[in-house]
Amino acid sequence: MTKLDQNNLPQHIAIIMDGNGRWAKQHAIGRIRGHKKGAQAVRATVRTCREIGIQYLTLFAFSIENWGRPTKEVDGLMSLLEEYLAKELNELHKQGIKLTTIGDIDQLKPSVKEKIISAKKITANNDKMILNLALSYGGRDEIIDAVKQIVQDSQNGIINSDEINKEIFSKYLNTCEIPDPDLLIRTSGEYRISNFLLWQLAYTELYFTKVLWPDFKKEDIFKAIASYQKRERRFGLTGEQLEEKLLN
Ligand code: FPP
Repeated sequence: MTKLDQNNLPQHIAIIMDGNGRWAKQHAIGRIRGHKKGAQAVRATVRTCREIGIQYLTLFAFSIENWGRPTKEVDGLMSLLEEYLAKELNELHKQGIKLTTIGDIDQLKPSVKEKIISAKKITANNDKMILNLALSYGGRDEIIDAVKQIVQDSQNGIINSDEINKEIFSKYLNTCEIPDPDLLIRTSGEYRISNFLLWQLAYTELYFTKVLWPDFKKEDIFKAIASYQKRERRFGLTGEQLEEKLLN
């Protein structure tokens, strides 16, 4: 197993879990069965991240654009999500994991929404890791919603337009309570962000792997983190400035 530096772990990992459909095609089975295998990879990844000591894990489980897929596939994904919540809740709770979501859960099937609300309540005080599921989520939509809310607050005298800055803007996003991702992983050999966390990924390290999501294993997460640990995050500064900052 790839070795990791425990003192330089990413605090927040975000994952675009891509390739369930291609995996199904390769195995000559239906797309839903590919997603089912993908849900198993979700279980294993959550467990691994908890074991390693990752504090925040955000998974892109369903995008706003995914609503445009065939009804059968959308229904299949909703059922899988419901099944995941029903089956995994005890385990998540036992492991001290708190469930949160970003995106518009009002759009989800009522039974799924109820399970999410209940799982959030049950796990609300857990503090070992946050599992953040992006559901009916889109980065541009999130930014537009934030702008609308800011305009409204400005009209109601709650905020003055002169005060708006990056920190305040971040507070209007769905992710207001969690730090920006340190590492973004995308599987399946596609090199895109696909409307995921557009604001939050500004300084995130990006890692792309050809592995299809259903095949994504513990060793793949370790490899992604090891790659992250080799990088120098400069946040727009020079290497020398960073060294100086570390010394002070
Ligand atoms: C992308 O594969 C994956 C999705 C659209 C959904 C991700 C869902 C899961 C991993 C399963 C359920 C989730 C949870 C949290 C239990 P794709 O269908 O776009 O693959 P393709 O690009 O190869 O067609």
